[in-house]
Amino acid sequence: MSSRNPDRIVILTGASGGIGSATARRFARDGARLILSDFDEPKGSALADELGARFIAADVTRECEVEALVQAALNEHGRLDVMINNAGQVGAVGSIAELDAGDWSRTFAILLDSVFFGMKHAARAMIATGHGGTILSTTSVAGLAPLGPHAYTTAKHAVVALTQSVAAELAAHQIRVNAVAPGRVLTGMTVAVYGSDENVRAAAEAQHPLGTTIDADEIAGAFAFLAGDDARNITGQILAVDSGVAALRLPPPYYTGTSGYIGGA
Ligand SMILES: NC(=O)c1ccc[n+]([C@@H]2O[C@H](COP(=O)([O-])OP(=O)(O)OC[C@H]3O[C@@H](n4cnc5c(N)ncnc54)[C@H](O)[C@@H]3O)[C@@H](O)[C@H]2O)c1
Repeated sequence: MSSRNPDRIVILTGASGGIGSATARRFARDGARLILSDFDEPKGSALADELGARFIAADVTRECEVEALVQAALNEHGRLDVMINNAGQVGAVGSIAELDAGDWSRTFAILLDSVFFGMKHAARAMIATGHGGTILSTTSVAGLAPLGPHAYTTAKHAVVALTQSVAAELAAHQIRVNAVAPGRVLTGMTVAVYGSDENVRAAAEAQHPLGTTIDADEIAGAFAFLAGDDARNITGQILAVDSGVAALRLPPPYYTGTSGYIGGA
């Protein structure tokens, strides 16, 4: 059994989803003490019960709700070691000529404001307690190259920029700031885009250089590595778990979708 993150106090957003639940299971197995969060309460609570973790419902677009997660870690454990800003949706899709301004803003609230709030309140807590810590976020292969819908691609690029900018500031406090950039992973999000598990697998196998779909467990493993001591000299990095799509610069499978919005309320 791995013990990469024993006794670490970890907050994870988007815990009810595919990558989030795999990450929760991985950190629980590694001995971390977890505060799981999502706005999907039934799934998140059930997972927390199964893992012996705490669940707190929060909408990551609301700063006070993200702040409350960090406060819960401080109240219950006296510190926060790892913050994982993972919640997300596809958001606005369609041609630039047709994009709705409200959908654009909502996409940025979910994908970027949420990461800002998580970084801000985690940094405050970590600086105040003086123990250092790790802040991780989920960007995307679309944060490294123009591979997603316009708003998603732009917001995920901004998560990369924010990760590097905040890493530069927080290094002096022994706080490491990194992100994981997944390629196409079979989760609710990709099924919403491609219509079925089979279609996600087929798209991944056709477009990933290594010819495989990426498992949510592999993204969880990247988070566990970046949070652990093996990564103690790694900060400001974006770890792509994308079958080589971004680094190898193959002809991109541009995705804009037809006009609309993909994601929940
Ligand atoms: N699946 C992929 O191929 C892929 C690729 C690259 C990046 N990502 C990123 O990975 C992260 C996790 O996505 P996933 O693939 O597990 O999708 P998912 O839909 O399975 O999970 C996303 C979770 O985020 C939650 N969420 C959405 N908006 C929220 C909000 N405002 N407040 C709180 N929770 C909210 C949802 O309820 C859901 O449980 C996202 O940031 C996504 O952009 C996914």
